[in-house]
Amino acid sequence: MLIAQVTDIHIGVRSDCATAKIANIERLANTFRQISKLQQQPDLIVFTGDITESGSIAEYRAFAENLSADIPCIVLPGNHDLIENMRVVLEPRGIVSNTHFLSRGDTSLLVVGLDSSVQGESHGFLSGDELSRLASTLREHSSTPTLLALHHPPINCGVDRLDRINLTNAVELANVIAPHDQVVGIMTGHYHRAIFAKWNTTAVAVCPSVARPLALNLVSGDICYANGAPGFMLHRWDGECLVSAVVEVELEGSLPRC
Ligand SMILES: [Fe+2]
Repeated sequence: MLIAQVTDIHIGVRSDCATAKIANIERLANTFRQISKLQQQPDLIVFTGDITESGSIAEYRAFAENLSADIPCIVLPGNHDLIENMRVVLEPRGIVSNTHFLSRGDTSLLVVGLDSSVQGESHGFLSGDELSRLASTLREHSSTPTLLALHHPPINCGVDRLDRINLTNAVELANVIAPHDQVVGIMTGHYHRAIFAKWNTTAVAVCPSVARPLALNLVSGDICYANGAPGFMLHRWDGECLVSAVVEVELEGSLPRC
């Protein structure tokens, strides 16, 4: 089965660059166009946060208008989102923000979305309720391979200013996961570039952003933007192995790459 991951869209701002100004909603439309052309359509699309720039109703409506009605999706909040407004727009459309069970033949996969957002803050934190929900879900489905999704990475990537706004209680997440070997991976966003890590015994994939990417600035540790196309990830689960691939989006028509 195939899961597409799309993250950090930041609808509401433009991805300025030296040669062009492209609204992030256009970068999202190009991303969806590329997903629609995949030979195998995803069974699920997981949006790992920062759907919007400021969390307004108008921004969520613009997002919802671009969604495909054919593919189920999980939509998670990031630090730029307002979960109340997100729910107002997305819940009437039947879009969930927590758990989805996928099954095909003998192969199954549980995808558990977690809300790591902290209102008004850039860093991430999993509340006691979210950790309890995860613990009981993992106990209940102990024989089902499980993929976790959240906005904030539980890892340090080496860019100091990003690592100060990661998941600040990653140790608590690790303690919940530790007794459950069915967790096959964790997918996150927030860092605006593709990063892979082994965290304790779990694979972590940080998905590239739809909005403008960030430079991997390991020397100064500052956050600075780079030019680049939108990206998304495809996670393929065959019952034994999780294979995660990065896909660079081709910008169509007169839209220049930036
Ligand atoms: Fe973020």
